[in-house]
Amino acid sequence: MLILGLESSCDETAAALVTGDRRVLAHRLAGQEEAHRPYGGVVPEIAARAHVEALEPLIEAALADSGVSLADIDAVAATAGPGLIGGVMVGLVTGKAIAHAVGKPLIAVNHLEGHALSPRLADPDLVFPYLLLLVSGGHCQLLLVEGVNRYRRLATTIDDAAGEAFDKTAKVLGLGFPGGPAVERAAQMGDPTAVPLPRPLFRSPEPHFSFAGLKAAVARIAGDYRPEDVAASFQAAVVDCLIDRTARAIDRAPGATALVVAGGVAANNAVRSALSSLADAHGLRFVAPPLWLCTDNAAMIAWAGAERFAAGLLDPLDTPARARWPL
Ligand code: KG4
Ligand code: ZN
Repeated sequence: MLILGLESSCDETAAALVTGDRRVLAHRLAGQEEAHRPYGGVVPEIAARAHVEALEPLIEAALADSGVSLADIDAVAATAGPGLIGGVMVGLVTGKAIAHAVGKPLIAVNHLEGHALSPRLADPDLVFPYLLLLVSGGHCQLLLVEGVNRYRRLATTIDDAAGEAFDKTAKVLGLGFPGGPAVERAAQMGDPTAVPLPRPLFRSPEPHFSFAGLKAAVARIAGDYRPEDVAASFQAAVVDCLIDRTARAIDRAPGATALVVAGGVAANNAVRSALSSLADAHGLRFVAPPLWLCTDNAAMIAWAGAERFAAGLLDPLDTPARARWPL
């Protein structure tokens, strides 16, 4: 089984070819950091235009890398939401056009499902059900992944996502965009105990998240401390919150075979190592995809497509793009 995957829901344009037996034959990606940098964040209209320009050449390149032709694919999987609607439409319409032209089915993938199943692309031994911490720029959720198309949401953020807080912290500290990796680098040279910062919802009974108060606190005190110390203290606060909330969710997920992390913030080494220790303490396996698979990419969309294809879950060509689409 061979799936072409397309991703364009935020600020990465991507195309990938992935097989049902977990071989990534090609994965191509074009970021838009340069276009958005002057604005310190993703500008939807600029993103949509950039996707239009980048997507077709990326598909051509992915086909050339893998040596297959469009006639060889079994289905086209495209992100159909959630995300910036202009961008989502670019990838979905392109996917529909290819599916129609080659006479193969379309699979409309929820971007969050792409993240949720991505650990199974990297790890053949990861079986359902597993507890997933999905932490990205737009989302912060704890999900019990019971199977393909079977997701039980145990918790979500009541305000901002963790990645958003990383990006905002980077902006306040003048570290540039995108913020997560920049904050992580600065944090390595700072003292995580130097700046007193709140840990919203710490120890509260429901495993929900909140980062708005932390974000606001960073903005308030940033000028009074060394940027490296703010970065390190901020990162330590995020890690504490993620660990405390995930520990709550573990109690509510008996039978989970593993603790899994996915999404852009899962690329953060402090987050990964703290979660690994938490899993150890609870006798759970810990699974984190390789870094390139954590941030947005099309291999995860192709893989989710492969899983859905195997389950017989196909979509009609009039499937709409959706800005909002909870799992
Ligand atoms: O999954 P993703 O690529 O896009 C969304 O679906 O949101 O996640 C992007 C988010 C951004 O907020 C970015 O700052 C954050 O992931 N991120 C990181 C790191 N790498 C990316 N946050 C912390 N540490 C990192 N190393
Ligand atoms: Zn994402």
